[in-house]
Amino acid sequence: MRLVLQEVNKAYHLDGVSVPALRGVSLEVKSGEFMAIAGPSGSGKTTLLNLMGAIDSVDDGIILYDGEDVRQMTEERLRIFRRDRLGFIFQNYNLIPVLTVYENVEYPLWIGDQWPDEKRRREVVMELLREVGLENYASRYPNQLSGGQKQRVAVARALVRRPGLILADEPTANLDSSTAHQIIELLRECNKSRGVTVIFSTHDSRILDVVNRVVHLEDGRIVRDERREV
Ligand SMILES: Nc1ncnc2c1ncn2[C@@H]1O[C@H](COP(=O)(O)OP(=O)(O)OP(=O)(O)O)[C@@H](O)[C@H]1O
Ligand SMILES: [Mg+2]
Repeated sequence: MRLVLQEVNKAYHLDGVSVPALRGVSLEVKSGEFMAIAGPSGSGKTTLLNLMGAIDSVDDGIILYDGEDVRQMTEERLRIFRRDRLGFIFQNYNLIPVLTVYENVEYPLWIGDQWPDEKRRREVVMELLREVGLENYASRYPNQLSGGQKQRVAVARALVRRPGLILADEPTANLDSSTAHQIIELLRECNKSRGVTVIFSTHDSRILDVVNRVVHLEDGRIVRDERREV
């Protein structure tokens, strides 16, 4: 999915005081890109990802998904768009503790009014578990997994409805640096094999070496848009 932001501004309001979080952010992310958003705490990374994921709305400015203006979408269209076209990954994994690994990856397939049959669901889920290296963990529960393994489950879950765009807010913040690298490599592999656009945020500059584009935020502004071959 191709994503365009034009002159996006966003402020929060606290006790009548306006706290600017993003100022004049313009950005184009091409379909199939693998991009990081870097910047210190408070620079606006989460705010930017929430706007990109249509979880929150801009004060002014434009956001286009494959050319479609988010402001023109009805609530219903937006809900279905988020469900079917976007995948989210979180710092705290957000797995459901009473579901197995298999069920955590499967349950997004139950949302909506058409479900794939059991054989098809099994194929889709097991293929993803193989892709993230967890085919032998299908019947475990989240509390029986390491942090890195939990995040692998979350990656599989984010991909199960075949989104065009994956948004991940600090997906490696709770992981040691070697596990963090493995998760970023995994996202990179999924990006290459599936063509899904991936955008993740981090404040850890050590994990940026496999990324071919890094947008640096400071005080709600893009201060550098770095592209390189990796
Ligand atoms: N709900 C809120 N109400 C008021 N101000 C907020 C709110 N959320 C964020 N902010 C402010 O907006 C700015 C950007 O915050 P944001 O959470 O986007 O930064 P961040 O780069 O994700 O930081 P971190 O690395 O700590 O997660 C900060 O000044 C923050 O204090
Ligand atoms: Mg944040």
